[in-house]
Formats: sequence, structure tokens, C-alpha cells
Amino acid sequence: MCGIVGYIGKNTAWPVLIKGLERLEYRGYDSAGIALLEGGTFSVYKKKGRVAELSKFAKSHNELSGGVGIAHTRWATHGVPSDANAHPHLSNGGDIVIVHNGIIENYLSIKKVLIGKGYKFKSDTDTEVLANLIEDIKKNGSAGRQIPIDEAVRLALAEVTGAYAILVLSKDEPGTMVVAKVGSPAVIGIGNGEFFIASDATPIVEHTKKVVYLEDGEMAVIKDGKLSLKTIKNKVRKNLYVHTLKTKIEELEKGGFPHFMLKEIFDQPESLRNTMRGRIVMDKGNVKFGGVEKFNKEFKNLEHLTIIGMGTARFSGLIGEYAFEELAGIPVKVEYGSEFTYRSVANGRHAGLIAISQSGETADTLNAIKKAKEEKLLTLGIVNVIGSSIARVVDAGIYNHVGPETAVASTKATTSQALLFVMLAIYLGRMRDLSKSDGQKILKEIQKLPEYVESILKHANLIKKLAKKYKKYKNFFFLGRKYNAGAAMEGALKLKECSYIHAEGCNAAELKHGPISLIDKDFPSLVIAPTDSMYEKNKSHIQEIKARGGKVIVLTTEGNKELKNVADDVIYIPKTLEMLTPILAFVPMQLLAYYIAVEKGNDVDKPRNLAKSVTVE
Ligand code: AGP
Repeated sequence: MCGIVGYIGKNTAWPVLIKGLERLEYRGYDSAGIALLEGGTFSVYKKKGRVAELSKFAKSHNELSGGVGIAHTRWATHGVPSDANAHPHLSNGGDIVIVHNGIIENYLSIKKVLIGKGYKFKSDTDTEVLANLIEDIKKNGSAGRQIPIDEAVRLALAEVTGAYAILVLSKDEPGTMVVAKVGSPAVIGIGNGEFFIASDATPIVEHTKKVVYLEDGEMAVIKDGKLSLKTIKNKVRKNLYVHTLKTKIEELEKGGFPHFMLKEIFDQPESLRNTMRGRIVMDKGNVKFGGVEKFNKEFKNLEHLTIIGMGTARFSGLIGEYAFEELAGIPVKVEYGSEFTYRSVANGRHAGLIAISQSGETADTLNAIKKAKEEKLLTLGIVNVIGSSIARVVDAGIYNHVGPETAVASTKATTSQALLFVMLAIYLGRMRDLSKSDGQKILKEIQKLPEYVESILKHANLIKKLAKKYKKYKNFFFLGRKYNAGAAMEGALKLKECSYIHAEGCNAAELKHGPISLIDKDFPSLVIAPTDSMYEKNKSHIQEIKARGGKVIVLTTEGNKELKNVADDVIYIPKTLEMLTPILAFVPMQLLAYYIAVEKGNDVDKPRNLAKSVTVE
């Protein structure tokens, strides 16, 4: 994880770096730091805590000039969050300064060698080891003579294993910045006589729309206003492939909402419209996905699918599982990316893998795709962040098009993921036995989803009241069946990560096989029970909980009065097709988690211990 930002150019680096760190804080926020190259020396400001604290601290210490700088916001992997472990890290001689996103796996053996040479370490990080390794190589490079910083970085990286995106400066070469990456992302923005480097494009977009994505195993050298790319193995990349960013600045702001999470919850009618925009072909009862068509033959022959993702993304996959089986008759397995990488794959011929990820950077998911490619599986990505690592590595891709999701808790990407699974199931179904009229029936309901979500959001105040009532509880069950089993797990995750309330998401049928022993008056349950094929079963589950003194919030279909006198509280969602109900059920559960977190005074957008994009295994 962690976010890195760099600036080299004719203007002052500080404002670009600090604003860039704010944009990247979703990647980690336990400490932050900036190094500026001013008058031939490095000024390094670093502080445990948020970027805002770093900003206050640095401003009170110095005038922050300098046209070259690197910055970092951290999610701790090696060493506790502290001032000392915060990046940037200086080498012993003070010549090299570095920021790093990733993990150097063999850092201990390198550290031992460096200690043998007299190097001292102020932090527990793998990054400080890399800084000193670069310094050591630079000093003693060629026949005892100094070598240029880019060559020293290249040689040092040839010795390390692991994942990294790094920015490196040397005080002896003030006009040079070196960027390198393996496994962690790095984007370079090309301005007018200036360069902006970051973990993703969000710190760059307000300065320039022209960007170059660094590939794994590559390094960029920005020297005297010129950018060149080569591999760590020293092969020059001639074509820069300059991409044009489409993100608008307003999409990165809160737009009058107190938190990004609430804004993103309220974005959902529009984000769902954007997910389906231009993709529905009603007269054919089908959908169109530009990034998939060239693999139509392979998709037609698919006999088995594995869906992988982590956290929320995997829960969306559980909805996809039912949709693919129901509409396309394709057997599906849903798996953690982290586990898929390390198990024996027995997929046989015509097997495919769908990787789902909002950020497109989740290491557990990315590694699983690499494994799938080794196993010759057709890989398809459902990704939100355009140009992200997963988007670039898969054979075929579908973008969510929901715009940047900034709050750590996923909301608008989740509803979009579930929608795309149903749409993709229609696509695969129409290649098989799904009739045109059945396709049309589902698509007509899909088109109504934005309005349905709008109508749920109109009643957000009712959920706010429930939040006040239920905030005191220390435990919660979220229960559902079939399509809504995955939705229940997502509801529980949302409450856990935002409200710090222990919550278990569980298939409602499983309750009686053990978990029900936890139920008492202090252990409430939210049961997702729309009037669908599972309704009667869910009614029994509710009765089982009530019989044991448990409180129940029931989430059911508008107009269903039956549960009013059974449940303690009822939340209504509009009537829709069974396979689309999770998309609607997500919304009140998101609001409940949000309002309870606000009631408890939690940092809603950046819950403790978390980061939005988990780029370490
Ligand atoms: C969602 O609220 C979580 N913060 C988390 O579970 C997230 O969904 C997971 O880390 C996967 O992220 P990705 O979609 O970016 O791959």
C-alpha cells in the first residue's frame, strides 16, 4: 500500500506534493512525509499521523521552497507507525532520499551486509535498507568511482526481490528523479517543463492530462527536463505511449457532503446509470461490452468460471455466481484472490477467470491473475480505475465507470460490480439459452435501478434514526439467502470497517447450524428478506431469531406489511427482480454503517488500520 508523489520542474514542489498526498491518503494514513531538495541539501519533514498534521508541522518549521521533492503517505508493513518509520528515508551519507510503496522481501539479508560495511539504521523499514544500498552502489559503482543515480538505482534493484514503486533523488544530481516499479503502480504526468509522479492519476489530473504508465520492471529517468524509460535489465523503451486522462477535478471533491462516503452513497443513481450507459441493446435483449467482444468465441465455449476478488469485490462475486448459473448455466466458483494464487488449479479446458477490483491494484487479486495466465485461463477484469494494473494485465476488461471512489469503504463501486455481474450473465446467457424476451425483461428492470436507488436515498433519515437506536450494540448479524447471502456479508463488512462494531455476515440458513447460539437480546440481526423465492424461508429464520430473544431489523419489499409486527424495525426497498435485490439492499446497509460511524465519532472516510488499496499480499 502507501501512496507516493513526486514533483520536478520549474514551480514549487511543496503544494503539489501536499495536495497529492491528500488525494492518495486513501492508500494509507498512519504517517506521512516530504523531502524537498533546497539549496543542494534535502529538507525532510515526516510525522506520524495524517497528512494534515505533516502539513502543520512542516509549515511551522521552515519556508517550503524547492522545485524538486518526493512525498509519501504510509500504511505500515515493516515497523510500527512512527516518525522514524515514516518515509522519505535518507541514506547514511545524506546523499540519497527515497519513498517506497511495496515490500522489499530480501531486505534483512541486504541489511546484514550493509551493517557489515558500517551502515547504521534509524528505522525498522525495508525502505531505509534500499536507500543505503543505492548509496553504497553509487559510491563504489565503477572501479571505486561514483556512478550516476539512475544507474545506481538500476543496479540496486537488480539485487532486491519483492514489490515496489520508488522515487529516488540524489543531492549531487538535483535535476534528476528516478522512478521504478515492480508490482506497485506508478504514473508519470507530463506537464509543461515539469513532471508529476504518483501512485495513481488523482494527484496529477489537476496539473496535466498527459500521462505515461510505468510497466513492471521499468524505470523512468527524468533528467534536465527530459523523460526516458528503460527496463531494470537496461533495455530502453522508445515509445512512451502517452495516455489522456478523462477524470474531472469535481469528481475528486466532496461536493458539499460531509464525507466522501456519504457523497459516494448518494452518487449511486448516477453511477449506476454510468455503468449501464451505452451497454444495453434492448431490441436484442442483450448487452454490449466493447472490451470483451473480441473474445466472443472463447466466452461462448466457456465451461467453467472462477470469480476472484477480495473484501467487497469477492462479495459482489457471490452475486455473480448465482447470476451466471441462473442465466448462462455456467458453473462458477468464487474464490479469494489470495487463495487462488496458492492452490492447485483444476479447471480443465475452456475455463475462465473473472477478477473483480475497484482499485485494480489489489495485490492478492493481481497475483491470482498472473497465476491464471500461467495456467492459460482466459482472464477478464471488472475494474473501476482506468489504466490500473489489473486493467492492463487481463485479456479482456469491463470498466465500472463510476468515477473515483475515495472513501475507504466501497459503496458506489459495489452496486456497480453487482450490476455488471448481472449484465455479463445476460451477455453469456444470450450466447447460450437465454431468450431475447427474458433478456429484455431483466434489462427493463435494470434500467429502473437508478430511480429505485433514488427512492431509497429519499428515506435516508429513517436509517439515520435506526443508527441512533442500534449504535450501542457490540455485535450484529447480517443474514440473507441466495443472491442476498453475499449482500449480507457485504452489509456486515461495511458495519465492521466503518463503525468498529463486530458483525458477522452469514447465509441465513447456516444460522441454525451453530451461529444462532450467539443470539440474545444484545445481539441484533439485519435480515435481508425481500418477497422473492427465499421469502418464506427467511420468515422462518426471522422467527427463529425472535424466539431466542434477538432483535431483528428486516429489509423487505415495499408494500409487504406482513413483517411489521414481527420485526423490531423494517426497512423497505422497491420491488424488483430477485437477482437485482442485492443492488438495492446494499444502499440502506451502507447508510446504516455510515450513520452509526458518524454517531460514534469515527473517521468515516479513513477508518482505523485500513487503506483503500491493498497493494501488499
Ligand atoms: C471495501 O469496503 C473494503 N474497503 C475492501 O474490502 C475492498 O473491497 C478490498 O480491499 C478490495 O479492493 P479492490 O476492489 O480495490 O480490489
